[in-house]
Amino acid sequence: MINLNIEKTFGFISKEKVFSYETAIKDAQKALENGTGQGNDFLGWLHLPSSISKEHLADIKATAKVLRDNCDVIVVAGIGGSYLGARAVIEALSNSFTWLQEKKTNPIIIYAGHNIGEDYLYELIELLKDKKFGVINISKSGTTTETALAFRLLKKQCEEQRGKDLAKKVIVAITDAKKGAARVTADKEGYKSFIIPDNVGGRFSVLTPVGLLPIAVAGFDIEKLVAGACNMENACTLNIPFAENPAAVYAATRNELYKSGKKIEILVNFSPKLHYVSEWWKQLYGESEGKENKGIFPAAVDFSTDLHSMGQWIQEGERSIYETVISVEKPNHAVHVPTDEANLDGLNYLAGKHVDEVNKMAELGTQLAHVDGGVPNIRIVIPELNEYSIGELLYFFEKACGISGYILGVNPFNQPGVEAYKKNMFALLNKPGYEEESKAIQAKL
Ligand code: PA5
Repeated sequence: MINLNIEKTFGFISKEKVFSYETAIKDAQKALENGTGQGNDFLGWLHLPSSISKEHLADIKATAKVLRDNCDVIVVAGIGGSYLGARAVIEALSNSFTWLQEKKTNPIIIYAGHNIGEDYLYELIELLKDKKFGVINISKSGTTTETALAFRLLKKQCEEQRGKDLAKKVIVAITDAKKGAARVTADKEGYKSFIIPDNVGGRFSVLTPVGLLPIAVAGFDIEKLVAGACNMENACTLNIPFAENPAAVYAATRNELYKSGKKIEILVNFSPKLHYVSEWWKQLYGESEGKENKGIFPAAVDFSTDLHSMGQWIQEGERSIYETVISVEKPNHAVHVPTDEANLDGLNYLAGKHVDEVNKMAELGTQLAHVDGGVPNIRIVIPELNEYSIGELLYFFEKACGISGYILGVNPFNQPGVEAYKKNMFALLNKPGYEEESKAIQAKL
């Protein structure tokens, strides 16, 4: 079970203050549970882990098998909540050098539809030219420009390269039940499709087919992932005492830190595989809390890499930050530091040690230095990088985010702010239906 430790925040905020949130947190939890808070039409994620049926998982696994049997490469097309959860889990669990492994036991998963880079798409098309590839097209609205644009290219290439019949088999859609262009295309072409439930927003959708299908295709055990999430669902329910409920304690601590002037939360990892977990987390908290001119700014760093770049700022820059460190207790593999007779690099004092012992001392040394430098530290320890632990971690962050948003006094389940750029982009591109906006924006240029 993952473990949350807030001891190193107590030099900056008091334990009493954190515990004073108990009643407000219970109220927030009740509002989530009873569906009486803001955004209550988007609470489908709350009991998702405990309500996923065996049949649903079997359907996802059967579809994953079709893709695995027929493809060497799978392009997952999606953006934001329709992309980051799958990538977070797949990268956390995959071999770091998957691309270069000679004997591949799983299809390579690559991503598109999360940018509008012409060179990126050109290079993707080139790369796929001699590949047996398939596509998972993910879009809840079914109309997101980035994803639709990439999918248009991928569909054409897949049909030309693999033939229309096989393309139908290796293109899967994950979208709304009824509306949106992705649904229309899937139904017309006869693609296998999965529905994103109406009441689950993008950034809370990793435990729907949005995350589960790509994760299963990548060769990971989605049953264990869901079991981990389910364990965390039980550990964060209303009847668990405040002090024992990690989501409640995390939500209270970060709100108190925010109140004390710590406006930026930096999610830190000491394992490069967790980079995309941080990207997923940034979206979850940024989109949920950053509204009404409020909200902690979610940032992230990969240590020890970024200790050699951002470390200076964190140690001595403006004291408006706190850190939340995800620490992996036990690596999955062992590498020992070898003895070297000449000892030219002076590293013999480490000989015989696990590399992870060095990493752990880097972590402890950093924690002590940053706390001394005025940076409160929250620590989340996960036993190891596997499906179960990641499932726990994801649900922990989701539950804490729902509670935390209510404590902050915002609707954590909408994202009105992301529409502004789209409106301008469509106006600038003269999209039909945007004639008035086009005129208005041209006048501003
Ligand atoms: O969390 C969200 O709602 C967003 O990040 C969406 O997931 C993102 O904009 C993609 O939207 P869609 O799935 O409709 O293509």
